Parts: sequence; structure tokens; C-alpha cells
Amino acid sequence: PVLVVDFGAQYAQLIARRVREAQVYSEVVPHSTPTAELLARDPAAVVLSGGPASVYADEAPDLDPELLTSGVPVFGICYGFQAMARALGGTVAHTGSREYGRTDLESDGGVLHTDLPGRHPVWMSHGDAVTEAPAGFAVTASSAGAPVAAFEDVDRRLAGVQYHPEVAHSPHGQEVLRRFLRDVAGLGPDWTTASIVEEQVELIRKQIGSGRVICALSGGVDSAVAAALVQRAVGDQLTCVFVDHGLLRSGERSQVEQDLVAATGVRLVTVDAKDRFLDALAGVTDPEQKRKIIGREFIRVFEQAARDLQAEAGEHGTSVDFLVQGTLYPDVVESGGGTGTANIKSHHNVGGLPDDLQFELVEPLRALFKDEVRRVGLELGLPETIVQRQPFPGPGLGIRIIGEVTAERLETLRAADAIVREELTSAGLDREIWQCPVVLLADVRSVGVQGDGRTYGHPIVLRPVSSEDAMTADWMRMPYEVLERISTRVTNEVPEVNRVTLDVTSKPPGTIEWE
Ligand code: XMP
Repeated sequence: PVLVVDFGAQYAQLIARRVREAQVYSEVVPHSTPTAELLARDPAAVVLSGGPASVYADEAPDLDPELLTSGVPVFGICYGFQAMARALGGTVAHTGSREYGRTDLESDGGVLHTDLPGRHPVWMSHGDAVTEAPAGFAVTASSAGAPVAAFEDVDRRLAGVQYHPEVAHSPHGQEVLRRFLRDVAGLGPDWTTASIVEEQVELIRKQIGSGRVICALSGGVDSAVAAALVQRAVGDQLTCVFVDHGLLRSGERSQVEQDLVAATGVRLVTVDAKDRFLDALAGVTDPEQKRKIIGREFIRVFEQAARDLQAEAGEHGTSVDFLVQGTLYPDVVESGGGTGTANIKSHHNVGGLPDDLQFELVEPLRALFKDEVRRVGLELGLPETIVQRQPFPGPGLGIRIIGEVTAERLETLRAADAIVREELTSAGLDREIWQCPVVLLADVRSVGVQGDGRTYGHPIVLRPVSSEDAMTADWMRMPYEVLERISTRVTNEVPEVNRVTLDVTSKPPGTIEWE
């Protein structure tokens, strides 16, 4: 792999994603990884990320010069660029002129910048600057605050840039990264969706052998794609369990029962647990309590389903020893498990299954980002309705009804939500939008007038957001015409709702969901 050394910037994951967009496999490793360990992984190249520190700060993370003489191609970005300059005998100084944000770059030839516009915008974020490149390096770009904004030594396969090529604000950044990978490191584009599927299928077969495996389907993209991969690998050794907790959106159950099964042929057991969940949620209004109850009930139902399967297999049947989880790469990195297997957070997808469930985990998406998961899903023949669906929380509509969850309120919210989703789809906004929760303020009523009569109904809140990863989000500037259609249709077609409101809060301070 190409290893992205994380110097503590929030950009390391993004860099890894960009490298993969150039169809080269990459992983993030912490900067504390010893050089010997790094080299033992036989990296195709190393990318040094940006970081918050000044190379002069006491706690500045070190860069081992050995890495730079090992013969492995190295690309330094921002802090990584400066650390590289210093380790190789260049000069890094406090120039006093900080550069934050969009800056014009003057570039002049070299492998990384040749044929790009001589002057083009890049995203900068630095206080210190390289004032003198190390011996042997060609300086190929500069900016107002960075006399040396890019350097390269193609023979030694070392290069770097002061700016952030990985962010969208550097419009030629991806091209520069691609040139490093192709022209400096000599790497071919071989990380393709087909190769991912092939590799994972082989790994799953090896892990499961002739064993039996179970997968909890949530209706979400990740569990569906994970199931489809395992199905492709071991066929009928897999059984999927879908718990209908009654907190689903309109059409979701049939999407799983019909579309997913039709596309993959997985063996599916649906457990209808609507009443059980409603009973458990009766009278509960506190959001955390709701989440806990839904999580707990989910586990109980799932455990029972697993026991039933086991019983069905009989004493002489093969026991169910494996559990599929749709864990994604960002979860792995965030829980510190980027490099080893020691500190991996294992149970965080299916509502946190307890440790006494004796399963070995199968996590075929552990190395993938969300967009890659979607592409793998399409490659496996899953329909767009499943692959392109917006994220939907495990606790479902239960945390989108503010107040007690009842069957009637669920009906109301489901109806309003279906209209909103229909209108967003027909307006072609599904890709642009990250997700648009529809929230029912079930304990609030307001006075309205409709067809000569007074109404006293509930408001719904539209919460359309744009986001890259749900960690931060911005409210989406939706076209007024779409809002108008939604408002008219919801108030006409859902009798209990007489007001449609729009949430214009970013995250932070608001979370995406209301509970
Ligand atoms: P918040 O509301 O924290 O949500 O901004 C961030 C993202 O996570 C989703 N979400 C959940 N997903 N189980 C899930 O599988 C949950 O309990 C849960 N709570 C929030 C939310 O929809 C958004 O995409």
C-alpha cells in the first residue's frame, strides 16, 4: 500500500481517499509508527500528511531521516513537506507571514506542476515556511508566503508541496497527487472496484471455510454490501436476519425483502418485532433512553434469531460461528486500529452486540471508504435504491419523533417522510444531499386554517444537510421551489401535519438528528 503518515492533521484520511481516487490502494498509519515497522510493510510510497505543529515546537513529531534514504518514494504535504526539508538539510523559518486559505501558486515546470497553469489557486495553512530546499531538489513553485512551495528530486523519488493538494480548494491538487504516484513513484492505477471484490471474496472464503455465518441487515448500505460480498463468497452458508422494529421508513422492508434478495439471492429471515418495540417504548420521551431501549431490544431479537438458526441446524449441523459486520475504514482509523489488530473496536455497528455473543467477526468493508462501498455494491449488482440511499440511523424513526413513540405518530411521520424523499428524488437532489431527516414535533401543536376550518396539528421539521462524513455538516440551501412542493404536499396529504419548518443549523452546534 501507499502509507499516509498521520502527523495529527484532520487531513490524513482525506489524503488516503484521494490516493485511492487515483486508483492506488492506501492506508493511514500514525506518525508514532517506527520507521522499521513502516518499511517492513513494504510500502509502494509514503505520504507525509500535514499537522498542526510547527517543526520547531518541542512536541513536534519527528521524521526519521532513514525513511528518506530508504529508497521508498516519499511525498510531503504541509507539515510533512517542512519536516522533509529539515531532515534533508534544507531551511525552515518563521517568515512572519502566515498563509491561511486560498492563495495563488506560481509554478514553473517540474514533474508535479508541468503544463498546469503558471498561476493557479491552492489551499495553504501554515506559519513556518521552507526558505531553502535541500541540496539536489528542484524548486518548482512559490507563493507570497512560501518562497519554496514545492520541490522534487525525481531521481531519489522524493517530492513535496507546502499546500494541501487533497482539498477541493486546490483544484489541481488531485492531478499533482496523481503525478507523484504515477511519475515519481511509478505506481499504476490498479485499485479498482473489481479488484476489491475479487480480493475480498478470496479473504472471506479463507476465513469462513465451510462454517456458517449470520448477518444482521439494517436496510442500510453497509450491511447490504457486506452481506452481498459474503454471499458472493460463500453462498448459502450465509443467513441474513432483518429485524423489523416498526421504526422503518415507508418501503424499507420491501426494499430488503425484495430488491436485496432479488439482486443477491441471500437467504433472509425477517423477524417482525413491531409490537415488542412499541411496548418497550411506551411512555418514553428521553432520547438516550429511547436509544438504549431500541438497542437492547434489537440485540435480544437478534440473539433469539441466532439461537433459532442454531437449533434448526440441529445437533449435527454446522454451528453458526461467524457474524458479518459492516465496519468501514474510517471507524477503524478513528478507533486507533489503522495498523495493528490490537486495539480494534469490534462491536459498534449492530447496536453494540454484547461480548458473550460468541461469534468471530467477518468485516469485509474494513478497508473501504463509504464511496468505495457504494461502488462495490453496484459492482455486485445491488440496485441504486439500496446503494445510493441516505444514511439512516439504527434507532430509525424512533429518534425522529420528538416525544413518545406511538403507532399513530409513526404513521404520520412515515407518510410525511415518504413525500419528502419522493420530492427530493424527483428534484434530482439525492446525490447532493447527504441526508434529510424529517422530524415530527409530536408534542407541539399549532393553529392553522385549511379549507375554511381551524386545524390544530403538528409541525414537521426538514433537516437537509450536506456533509462529507457526518462528523460535520452544513444545512443545505435547497431550492425554494422544492421546499414549496414539499410543504404543499405534506400539509395537503398528511392530515395531522399543518406546518412545515426548515432547520438551518450547521453541525456543530446542532447534530444531524434531533435526538
Ligand atoms: P448526528 O445526529 O450525531 O448523526 O449528527 C451523525 C450521523 O449518524 C447517524 N446516526 C446513527 N446511525 N445508529 C446509526 O447507525 C445511531 O444510533 C445513529 N445516530 C445517528 C445520523 O443519521 C447521521 O448520519
